This record gives sequence, structure tokens and C-alpha cells, in this order.
Amino acid sequence: MAPDQPREQFGDHYRSIYLAGAGGERPTLPVDWRELEARAVEALDERAAGYVAGSAGTGGTDRANRRALDARRIVPVMLRDVAVRDLRISPFGKEWPAPVGLAPIGVQTIVHPDGELASARAAARVGVPLIAGTAAGHTLEAIAAELGTSPRLFQLYWPNDPELCESFVGRAEAAGYEAIVVTVDNAFPGWKPRDLQNAYLPAIEGIGLANFFADPVFRTGLERAPEEDPGPAIGKFIGVFGNPSLTWDDLDWLRSRTSLPILLKGILHPDDAREARERGVEGVIVSNHGGRQVDGAVAAFDALPDVVAAVGDELTVQFDSGIRSGADAFKALAAGADAVFVGRPYLWGMALEGAEGAEKVLRWILAELDLTMGLAGRPSLADLDESALRP
Ligand code: FNR
Repeated sequence: MAPDQPREQFGDHYRSIYLAGAGGERPTLPVDWRELEARAVEALDERAAGYVAGSAGTGGTDRANRRALDARRIVPVMLRDVAVRDLRISPFGKEWPAPVGLAPIGVQTIVHPDGELASARAAARVGVPLIAGTAAGHTLEAIAAELGTSPRLFQLYWPNDPELCESFVGRAEAAGYEAIVVTVDNAFPGWKPRDLQNAYLPAIEGIGLANFFADPVFRTGLERAPEEDPGPAIGKFIGVFGNPSLTWDDLDWLRSRTSLPILLKGILHPDDAREARERGVEGVIVSNHGGRQVDGAVAAFDALPDVVAAVGDELTVQFDSGIRSGADAFKALAAGADAVFVGRPYLWGMALEGAEGAEKVLRWILAELDLTMGLAGRPSLADLDESALRP
């Protein structure tokens, strides 16, 4: 083993599970993701379960995400010395121990009272990057405190009040976030029949507004503090949230307000990826928001190669939507993603066992990715390209 390698590799995790089994202990969470999802859904009330599962329209995009990943097959090669796998990456000059992180998920307190603090604890224990969301039950500062020195990015839902937007970005910089991830596919909430049937949008009930309520700019002009009188504060939130008139030109303004790298999340079209490059952002996240926005949208995994071909040499290209396992992560990385983000699976773990549940799910995905790299004969990310997949 090279001297600078961590002694424990992600894949070694399987040993601790089998060893515990020899002592009569079994994992308390389902290791199979379908079973994990079913158990989590059972544990949540209908409105929260519906919100987490929530897909746009018929659910076709969510299914397409899975189908696209399932359809692409890995072609392992043998006898390549896979004793040491190296998963480290350095996007925009930062060091990440693995190319896998936690996608930004809003209003996590509907799943578990610790919500975003639980996912931050899980991310910090595993050491992988977390994208903290604007719409959170805990402030970005409280999340940063849980993260310690662990890598973090801040996901921006760009409010239509520029002063508030600037305040969010400044707070994220002050709290040590490494990049601003602007979600660009959410001008409006997608048409989600299950949430519509439940008539349930958590923010309207004041859930997930901690970043707003704690913000000095947001609080200005409110007669009473949001914690004393939430009604008017929720009304104000509804007024500033969402920004459907946002255009590419607005990115110059953001650029002038922050020295942090900017990533655009929700890019699917290669023309948009090229535009992003022209506008000087550092990266894109290929994502269809887990199938929650446009029913009938292209599977994110099918959109990935065109975006990689368009800008992969110049921008960091990251990926989410449909990742359920380490093998899925392997495929996305082989197809050209620099890093992948896990969405719903860590929420399912959290729904059942809080921070520990989210941590287990992350460890399992990382372990499987590491083992898959070894078993497929691609021990380093530099070896991982399209040739690992069947054309
Ligand atoms: C999301 N996602 C999301 N994205 C974002 O940029 N800001 C947000 O606040 C949220 N909120 C959110 C809530 C819930 C309940 C889900 C499931 C998803 C989208 C998320 O970042 C990611 O794109 C998807 O979850 C990826 O798809 P999978 O892995 O869940 O299939």
C-alpha cells in the first residue's frame, strides 16, 4: 500500500458487517434499497412519505432515471492489481475523499426531527461532501457546525430579493461553504399529484424556513420576530421565494457578489452546459431533480454523456438523480461524471434511524462503489471511463 493511502478503504466495511454477524448481530436497516425504501415509506406519515417519494406527473421521469442506469452494463476486466483503490478527487481545488456526496434535500425535519443536522452528522462521520439546501429546518450555520471540517457546498434557491440573496451567499461564505450550487430547475414546484392530493407544501406551513427566519435582511421590516409571530414571516417568505424571471444574464451579478465557485444544478441540455461555460461558472450538476420537476424529461443518466462531451474538459460535471447503489455511482463516474450525489436513499435511512441511518446508507454506497471499482478492474478514478461500460 502506498504510504499516503488511508489504511481503511471504503470497501473494507463489508468485513465489519460479516464479523458482527459471526457474533450474532445483523444490520437493523435493510441493505437492499428497495426494501429500505418500503420500510421508510411505511414509517412516515402519508404527507411526508408523499413529499419524499413525490415525482412529477406520472412518475415517468423517476422511472426513466432508474431504467437508464439499469440498462447500462459494466464490463469488468481482470488481473489488474486492485488491492488499493483511490477514490479521492479535488474539484475546484478542494480535497474530497470520495466522488460521492449528499444531494441538497429540503425540509428534512418532516422525516426526522434532527433533519439537516442528522444528515450533516452522517456526512461528517463518513467525511463526504454535503450540499446544504436553502429550504432547511436548521440554519446553514448550524449545519456547518455539525460538519466540522467536512466538505460542504451551499445550494441556493435564488430569492427574488437581491439583498436577501447576497445575505445568503455571504453567510455561506462565512460558514466555510466551498461553493454555491444554484438550483436552476425549480422556477416553480413541479406538478406532483401526490402532494397536490394531500394539498401539502411544507414551506407554506412554515417548515424548512430556518435560513429565512434567521436572516438579518429577511427579518428587517417584519413587525415581530418570526419565532414570535410566524404568520407574517411565512407570508413574506412566499413573496420572496422563487424567481421565475431569472436568466443567464443574472449570473454576472452573482459572480460579482462571491469569490466562491458557482455550480448550476439541474442542467440536462448540452447547449445549457455550453452557456454555463461561456458565463464562467465552475461546474454543472446534471440532474432532473430526481424526476420531481418535468414529467417526461430525459433520464439524467441519458443526458450525462452529451453534457460531458460538451464541457467535460473545462468544467466539473457532477451528477444526481436515480443513484441507489455503488454500482450506479460507478456507472455515472464511468460515463464522465466527476462526482455523484445521493438523494432519497439517505433520507430513507434517516427516516428509520436518524443520523446513524443516513450514515449507514452512505457507507454502504461507498463500500459498494469501492468494491465495484476493484471487482471491475478499475482501481482508480483515472481508470474509470466509458470503456468500463458496454457501448
Ligand atoms: C429534493 N431535491 C432538492 N434539490 C434542490 O436543489 N433543493 C432542494 O431543496 C431539494 N429538495 C428536495 C426534497 C426532496 C424530498 C427530494 C427527494 C429531492 C432534489 C435533490 O437534490 C436531488 O436532485 C434528487 O433527490 C436526486 O434524485 P434521487 O437520488 O432522489 O432519485
